[in-house]
Amino acid sequence: MNYPRTRLRRLRYNKNVRELFEDVSIAKSDLIQPVFLVEGKNIKKEIKSLSGQYQLSIDNALIFCKNLINEGINSIILFGVSSKKDDTGKISCSSKSIVPKAIKEIKKTFGDKLLVMADVCNCSYTNHGHCGTIVDNDVHNDLTLETLSMQALTLAKAGADVLAPSDMMDGRVQSIRNKLDSSGFEKIPVFPYSVKYASAFYGPFRDAVGSGPKKGDRKSYQMSFKNSKEYFREVEQDLTEGADAIIIKPALAYLDVISKVSNNYNIPIIAYNVSGEYSMIKSSAEKGHINEMDIIMETMCSMKRAGANAIITYFAFEIAKNLNSNV
Ligand code: PBG
Repeated sequence: MNYPRTRLRRLRYNKNVRELFEDVSIAKSDLIQPVFLVEGKNIKKEIKSLSGQYQLSIDNALIFCKNLINEGINSIILFGVSSKKDDTGKISCSSKSIVPKAIKEIKKTFGDKLLVMADVCNCSYTNHGHCGTIVDNDVHNDLTLETLSMQALTLAKAGADVLAPSDMMDGRVQSIRNKLDSSGFEKIPVFPYSVKYASAFYGPFRDAVGSGPKKGDRKSYQMSFKNSKEYFREVEQDLTEGADAIIIKPALAYLDVISKVSNNYNIPIIAYNVSGEYSMIKSSAEKGHINEMDIIMETMCSMKRAGANAIITYFAFEIAKNLNSNV
């Protein structure tokens, strides 16, 4: 059957017909808002490279969480900005570290109204900016697992609902899972960044948390974007080790990866719409070159269409406000 009997535009003339058959949509419950935490009181410092995003002290983070909940965003992912740093990042394993302190306050205030995910990584806490313990000029995989699993346990004890290791060490899911299970936290899920590329799209984030490597790059642990199949092994490894859902990042330049993982594995997928993707849209919108909310929604739909079940995005709050104002 072909033209003129078939006219594909017949399904497009009427808005209600179009809407009947649209099968991709963005709900507030799909979105996870990143929150950057700093020590101190009454701090709300805009991050230059991430316009509209702030480093927040715990008191202001609580206000932001309340605003998020009021707009219908019920999930956040926390990142610590730490001025205290050491060789291995083990200061992150103390319950007095910024993220566990914030989690306690947030959970005390909002309970189950807010899903609190915590990024697990050492790069905000090491004086060299790498994601783990350096031995002979490289990040030592197995030594790093010790700080990561301790950090994860500290975050779980503080009340984190989900742990999201972003370090890309081999075996981290298993060692975090073992640590949690042997400490009575067998119900806490682990959502690793299973597929994480060594990407220039993280630039603004590294400014935000001061976590850029002082020397070298992350190519000995994050994946090369010149490999087109390696991600299958990363996903398989994390599933075998007990991942409950997986995170893929960046998102927009990697929609092929999201789509293939979604077609090949029965596991929930979270796309991380990273800092560089956010700031490209922001800067262009600030110059008046694009319609910001239209572009945001189009890119959100592209991630859902590719197979993402949920999205971590700095736009979460803005999207929610927009959806609410259009009701
Ligand atoms: C920590 C971490 C990074 C991001 C999330 N967790 C940065 C990195 O690996 O350098 C990037 C997030 C973003 O760009 O929005 N390892």
